[in-house]
Amino acid sequence: MVTLLYLRRSGLDIIQNFMTLPPSINTSSAIQLWQWISEPLKYLHKYERQCGDIFRLNMLGALNGAVMISNPQTIQQVLTNDTKQFSAPGSINQILQPFLGDRGVILLDGHEHRQRRQLVMPQFHGDKVRGYTDLICSISRKAIDRWQVGETINLREQMQPISLDIILQTVFGLDRNERYDLIREGLVKVASLIESPLNASFLLIPALQKDLGAWSPWGRFLRDRSALDRLLYEEITNRRRNYQSDKTDILTLLIGAVDADGHGMNDLELHDELMTLLFAGHETTATALAWAVYWVNYLPEVKQKLLTEIATLGTERDPIVISKLPYLNAVCSETLRIYPVGMLTFPRIAQEPVSLQGYEIAAGTIVSGCIYLTHQREDLYPEPHLFKPERFLERQFSPYEYLPFGGGSRRCLGMALAQLELKLVLVEILTHCQLELTGTLPALPARRGVTLGPKGGIIAKVVSKKYDSLG
Ligand code: HEM
Repeated sequence: MVTLLYLRRSGLDIIQNFMTLPPSINTSSAIQLWQWISEPLKYLHKYERQCGDIFRLNMLGALNGAVMISNPQTIQQVLTNDTKQFSAPGSINQILQPFLGDRGVILLDGHEHRQRRQLVMPQFHGDKVRGYTDLICSISRKAIDRWQVGETINLREQMQPISLDIILQTVFGLDRNERYDLIREGLVKVASLIESPLNASFLLIPALQKDLGAWSPWGRFLRDRSALDRLLYEEITNRRRNYQSDKTDILTLLIGAVDADGHGMNDLELHDELMTLLFAGHETTATALAWAVYWVNYLPEVKQKLLTEIATLGTERDPIVISKLPYLNAVCSETLRIYPVGMLTFPRIAQEPVSLQGYEIAAGTIVSGCIYLTHQREDLYPEPHLFKPERFLERQFSPYEYLPFGGGSRRCLGMALAQLELKLVLVEILTHCQLELTGTLPALPARRGVTLGPKGGIIAKVVSKKYDSLG
């Protein structure tokens, strides 16, 4: 999405290809960049209305334009070819480098990227993450226990520590000790840089990344990040020293892993992978959770149907059975359809001249699947602005019609964990407390760093605890 800034092509190419390029809007690149930062959905809709389901954004730096696609056939053409006619380079995600470093899976290219995915992916398979169900439920229950009846809470803020604890404990196997608390605190501070569109500008406009002292936003970020880095390196050293081969978390696995030449990952690589998984995993899931809790409380009929479905399980509610409930699955799918946390796939780049929907795409052009606009297609999702879980019970969507986790060679590694977490935490909240939305309604989506979250975070009052209409 944001990575549109980095491709530079010669002026000659632009003139040569201009006539056959996909349509674009006649607005200056600086204005388009600002629109994309400040009100991304408004402008995506505007461009789509004027140009159709393939168009070019002319942002600063992406001189040949970045092409947005939201036609499922075109998305399929690109994502099924993203190691052939297209590439899915990690280096184009440089914008995330200040958070993630250079050596995590998101910023790796080609062979190194494939190798790293092969190493990390098995830990995120459905079978593996199902082993985390009890921990997910107990972390959510502890968080709910801290809410007081009568208290007003910000749902987005409350979901963050839940998803963070889940990642820290399940994926990284961190023990709850003093360093755990410090790492947790450090991550929250570093993540706060991307909470508002204004702060997001620091990521999207590298020229703003100036250290003007501890009180300046970027200066504070750099200091917070160094403090967090120190803690993570200490943890890595500690875990290397006390290596326990029987532990099944990712950090243990990565410490023990060796490549074909017998080389293990160095501390820098381990650090960057940890940061990548923590950041890719906890912000996104916390936002999705906040939306899910919002929709269920905003639409009483959805809540009632969900409670009725959960009630069929009786009091012995097995989390694995919960995770397979059809209506619950439909509610979570619709949550990620209507406001997908990631608006775009990571960029793909044409490796040779390609034709997309009859337009010529020059070699070197950035192409991004627009997840948001695809999910808003009237032909796939009638009345797309309405939250209707039933759509997912009535028909099956192809992976190119419904793609909240992207696809192809960069499909989200944490998909199974995120889906499980979404369902289990939602059910814990629904069955253990009653909330009343008290903020401005309906909640509206707004940019949150590189993701899409609820504007202002969704405010709710805790009306009662141990909501027990389920018997
Ligand atoms: C609701 C939650 C989540 C959403 C909506 C989401 C969405 C996405 C999307 C759209 C992509 C880009 C895919 C593409 O370009 O084709 C992605 C990539 C990625 N996600 Fe997620 N994600 C979520 C949770 C997680 C979790 C829990 C983790 C890990 C703990 C994770 C780790 C990653 C990683 C590592 C990548 C990059 C993969 C690569 O570069 O090969 N995500 N995610």
